[in-house]
Amino acid sequence: MDHLELDTITKAYARWAPVYDLVFGAVFERGRAAAIAAAERIGGRVLEVGVGTGISLPDYKRTTKLCGVDVSAPMLQKAEERVRELGLTNVEGLWVMDAEKLEFPDASFDVVVAQYVVTTVPNPEATLDEFARVLKPGGEIILVSRVGAELGLRKSLERWFAPAARKLGWRTEFPFERYTAWVERNGSVYLTERRAVPPFGHFSLIRFGKTAAAVPDAMRAAI
Ligand SMILES: C[S@@+](CC[C@H](N)C(=O)[O-])C[C@H]1O[C@@H](n2cnc3c(N)ncnc32)[C@H](O)[C@@H]1O
Repeated sequence: MDHLELDTITKAYARWAPVYDLVFGAVFERGRAAAIAAAERIGGRVLEVGVGTGISLPDYKRTTKLCGVDVSAPMLQKAEERVRELGLTNVEGLWVMDAEKLEFPDASFDVVVAQYVVTTVPNPEATLDEFARVLKPGGEIILVSRVGAELGLRKSLERWFAPAARKLGWRTEFPFERYTAWVERNGSVYLTERRAVPPFGHFSLIRFGKTAAAVPDAMRAAI
């Protein structure tokens, strides 16, 4: 069963908010650094979806314009405090918003970043469609996300842990084929990179480019 309810997620992250940085600060640091380095290569106006406590915001250059959204008000409150305390004037705004229904016009951002988010949303493919919609042609979607094991002991453990993980607000099972099927269906994006990032090889940096027009069939076959 793959189902995750938005209500379960908001309740889970209301509980995580006070301790999130302590529990997930260091463990996800290298993945975040990889995503930010990739985003900075493009620069411009960046949307962080599932920005959470805003833990990554101080790591961007002050010349990069940042917008952040999260469905959890308690997580976002931490982000607002961080922006105020550190004087991050490059942060344009932080909004409580569902990733699946982004309230931005088409082609608003040069980069859409989502770190440790896609496996926590109720409808990952619909959410990725929104990322592609708000992205400018020539821009990039940059994810750091758990990729489920294809075989073996890790796959069995992920399946066993899945019901408990859902209560904590995420999925353990998420095969990479879901991304390749989404690229194929969406038609405006193509996969540019997939690379494992610490910890434990369970997470990957995944990058997609957006074309000016639909991806030609020949290019899709190459992906
Ligand atoms: C594991 S945390 C990651 C936070 C941050 N990106 C980081 O690197 O630590 C997942 C975040 O995604 C948010 N989230 C989950 N579902 C969401 C949705 N549908 N729309 C917006 N944010 C969502 C959660 O509230 C939480 O803050």
